[in-house]
Amino acid sequence: MLIQENINLKTFNTFNVSAHARYFADIKTPEELLEALSFSQQGSLPFMIIGQGSNLLFKEDYLGLIIELNIKGIELINDDKEHYYIKAQCGENWHDFVQHCLQAGYYGLENLSLIPGTVGAAPVQNIGAYGVELSEFFHELEALEIASGKVIRYCKDDCQLSYRHSIFKGELKDKFVITNVTFKLLKKPKPNLSYPALRDALPNIETDNIDPQLISDTVCEIRRSKLPDPAELGNAGSFFWNPIVSEDDFFALQEKHPDIIAFSYMQQYKLAAAWLIDQAGWKGFREGDVGVHKEHALVLVNYGEATGAELYDLSRRIQLSVKKMFDIDLRPEVRII
Ligand code: EPU
Repeated sequence: MLIQENINLKTFNTFNVSAHARYFADIKTPEELLEALSFSQQGSLPFMIIGQGSNLLFKEDYLGLIIELNIKGIELINDDKEHYYIKAQCGENWHDFVQHCLQAGYYGLENLSLIPGTVGAAPVQNIGAYGVELSEFFHELEALEIASGKVIRYCKDDCQLSYRHSIFKGELKDKFVITNVTFKLLKKPKPNLSYPALRDALPNIETDNIDPQLISDTVCEIRRSKLPDPAELGNAGSFFWNPIVSEDDFFALQEKHPDIIAFSYMQQYKLAAAWLIDQAGWKGFREGDVGVHKEHALVLVNYGEATGAELYDLSRRIQLSVKKMFDIDLRPEVRII
């Protein structure tokens, strides 16, 4: 394993901002991961794991060790009457993995097509899109405990998966590295067209007869039409969470703002943060090289040479104006370093 020094992280984060890492390791095996962790422990250096850097904003240089996980592999490990159990290593690209499953006839992940990032990062924030969350098809994972170097298996209940959250963002934050994930996928497709934008894009087709590959292709089309491709325009998808408020708070807000967009969510309401930001006038905003995407107000963009500090500053301004207009606190979904 090679530890490199003073590496520019511009190509390792989808925001495309320049920031330097004091040390950087590209990890291809679990053994290399252990070596990298012991390098950081011996030097009392902080370390950070990145997959494809698709949910990160580097506000400044990183004075520790960045570990890029590139451990690969996908295997069918078991099946039962209705399911296939597929184990994927942490460094697999998420979208490629979804396509691999569809081609092999393992169904369920089609609505999650084109989400940037890796398999290992997916359970950390329980990725979700177009009416499906990873938790529905998650079986178990293996994670390396940093303090002991032991690999521990976590079943679904242990992971405490909820909206954009898991135990690995909560009490186990920074204590484990997820090394592989096993999914419980369907032998027979069960299309989910519950999300309005997806249903509207597939009119006149009976839900039960829809080919999962068509769902995947349609999700890709919708995403491409709304969300900028990080290869062309630096961004990290949704910058903020959709805020969840009580029913009472929602009805009070709705009285003042009758057009507010929200979805009921476990006896509460999930507000469309994009709508709040849009109403506050930020959609399409640009100042220098930072901006808010013209098609989607929840996506901050780097038009070229923006710094992480400038993007962070813009996010703070958006938070303040949404607070002033709606008395709602927006929380960043993106990890800010
Ligand atoms: N909207 C606006 N203005 C805009 C954009 C959207 O008013 O500029 C409205 C839309 O009309 C829609 C509502 O806001 O009624 C929600 O918009 P959208 O369907 O695009 O979804 P979202 O809530 O903004 C969430 C996820 C996305 C995921 C989509 C589709 C979060 C934080 N974001 O976005 O995830 O792709 O749903 O399921 O939950 C990501 O996490 O990076 C991400 C892109």
